[in-house]
Amino acid sequence: MPAETRDLSSTVVAVTGASAGIGAATARLLVEAGARVAVQARRKDRLTQLVDELGADRAVAVPGDVRDPASARDLVQGAVDAFGRLDSIVVNAGIGAYGGILDATDEELTTMLRTNIDSSVWAVRAAVEQFRRAGGGGDVVVISSVAGLRGGGSEAVYAGTKFAQVGLAGSLDREVRTEGIRVSTLCPAGVHTEFAIGNGRTEGDPALDDFLQPEDVGAAVVTVLRQPRRMRTTLWAMWSMAEGS
Ligand SMILES: NC(=O)c1ccc[n+]([C@@H]2O[C@H](COP(=O)([O-])OP(=O)(O)OC[C@H]3O[C@@H](n4cnc5c(N)ncnc54)[C@H](OP(=O)(O)O)[C@@H]3O)[C@@H](O)[C@H]2O)c1
Repeated sequence: MPAETRDLSSTVVAVTGASAGIGAATARLLVEAGARVAVQARRKDRLTQLVDELGADRAVAVPGDVRDPASARDLVQGAVDAFGRLDSIVVNAGIGAYGGILDATDEELTTMLRTNIDSSVWAVRAAVEQFRRAGGGGDVVVISSVAGLRGGGSEAVYAGTKFAQVGLAGSLDREVRTEGIRVSTLCPAGVHTEFAIGNGRTEGDPALDDFLQPEDVGAAVVTVLRQPRRMRTTLWAMWSMAEGS
């Protein structure tokens, strides 16, 4: 018997960091699965291209900077205005910079802390507020990292931001599960995207070819959302076969 899955065709999903990489792949796969998406990032041209590709009846762009709590509220409102509801949010936007603890400037680290940690809080708050307004239920999917489970050399601050997401999501699960809100944290290892290029990763590095593809993570998001509502996935670590755990 085929496994029971949820039909996503009547659902609306907000995706942060959808102008590139994992977020863009996730938006595409969600639309392929029948969902409608509200996508956010700073680069409007890329969001516009994505919406053109997916179709204005399936996708809406809500440009914004995730470090600003108002952008999170705009994203949620944009989804509701365009499609009448919001069922799920994928908290994905993030940046990475690798190096020793003293290698980056205060400003660079502040940017990473705000982009990865603060933005997750703002996105979660805006989504949960909407889920409650609509009568309860919903999904929060946080894209953290294996760095958020075990840390690593040359990434202390980045790993700290990813541990913070794991802590946020795990605690949120305890707070909202009884309202029918599922909170899932996906922790990918290296993914072949533009991520950290020039900030510890180099374009064309053959190691990137052995990484996960952004679609692998997007497919995992679809899988989690498709699971029957009697269950939830709280934590999912994912590695390419080439990378040691
Ligand atoms: N790639 C990896 O190896 C890897 C592994 C594990 C986890 N992750 C996590 O996966 C997530 C996505 O990474 P990725 O690999 O897809 O990276 P990416 O290709 O560089 O994409 C990052 C996305 O985040 C958006 N973003 C960054 N700062 C933003 C801001 N201030 N406001 C709004 N949007 C912002 C970018 O859009 P704009 O620049 O247009 O704003 C872009 O859409 C991150 O949270 C990352 O930590 C990545």
